[in-house]
Amino acid sequence: MSKKILVLAGDGIGPEIVAEAVKVLKALQAEGAIDVTLEEALVGGAAYDAYGDPLPEETLTAAKASDAVLLGAVGGPKWEPLPISKRPEKGLLGLRSGLGLFANLRPAVLYPQLIAASTLKPEIVSGLDLLIVRELTGDIYFGQPRGVETLPSGERRGLNTMVYTESEIERICRVAFDIAMQRGKKVCSVDKANVLECTELWREVATKTAADYPGLQLSHMYVDNAAMQLVRAPKQFDVIVTGNLFGDILSDCAAMLTGSIGMLPSASLNAQGQGMYEPIHGSAPDIAGRGIANPLATILSVALMLRHSLGAPEVAERIETAVSKVLDQGLRTADILSEGMRRVGTAEMGDAVVAAL
Ligand code: NAI
Ligand code: MG
Repeated sequence: MSKKILVLAGDGIGPEIVAEAVKVLKALQAEGAIDVTLEEALVGGAAYDAYGDPLPEETLTAAKASDAVLLGAVGGPKWEPLPISKRPEKGLLGLRSGLGLFANLRPAVLYPQLIAASTLKPEIVSGLDLLIVRELTGDIYFGQPRGVETLPSGERRGLNTMVYTESEIERICRVAFDIAMQRGKKVCSVDKANVLECTELWREVATKTAADYPGLQLSHMYVDNAAMQLVRAPKQFDVIVTGNLFGDILSDCAAMLTGSIGMLPSASLNAQGQGMYEPIHGSAPDIAGRGIANPLATILSVALMLRHSLGAPEVAERIETAVSKVLDQGLRTADILSEGMRRVGTAEMGDAVVAAL
């Protein structure tokens, strides 16, 4: 049966990079490797301009009716004067909560061809291949009470609340553990159980849940130490599972170990296996419209989509191999360019991946 993919190009470089990912999907479709139906809709600033709403009802409805969503990026200086409720980023948050995308997968893989891009010494990062599983719909970003209040003294007080239920912790741990069983069977759960009761519960539930996974090696680490270890010796990690706030920070840190923001994909999944797939970078307004953005993070997001929502892991692997081949050929967009390599634009890079498939 044909799988439905909703394509949301978004703003800035979004349409440019998404066009290349769609090229890859269409090439695979043409040779019969996959059976997909593509539909397009507006989100972010583009949707605000057309409808006065960064997440129009029809976009959310179409997203809910699809097997997977492919997203470029949203936002840009044009929409910065808007109130937060109308900002393009609000469209993203609405999609996450509307689809119940509680599991955010952020792989950080260092391609051997790009080792010079990392700011760390080659021996520290070579062969790096870790996955951060971040809980995405709970924690201090959503907990009540929250807000800024004025005390009787007239002084203002801001507050946010860290909240997790046992079932929320268990389901994100299961996502991480299931994936870990297909990889190195090694998970590090990151918390701050020495001072935060909420994460004391996290540690307890993670430990209990791990008992269902024979052979799984679960360790625990405080978040401050984890931040330090990621930079000191990142290869000690295989899968990291953590809450929304710690995951936000650690996943950006892990991504940057690879040095190339234009190379890293992400997946956000719900309980039904539906997912939203997007590069980790933003809309890069500084280079938008020039045809020089790196489309590989978006193309690699398609690989994650095939693996996690469309049940085609072998096709996912073909895409990843094709990307690696293109790098072997010495093709580089400006963001990953180094001496002796051939500079290519966005479309040429997409064409090269299709050819390498
Ligand atoms: P950014 O990720 O858009 O750009 C940071 C730097 O990396 C820029 O110099 C940019 O040119 C470069 N870059 C990013 N992606 C690239 C690619 N594929 N190829 C080559 N170079 C690339 O982050 P920034 O500048 O902080 O944010 C710009 C806008 O994007 C803001 O409106 C922000 O809110 C939005 N944003 C959206 C995200 C999303 O849609 N998921 C995530 C992060 C930011
Ligand atoms: Mg972040």
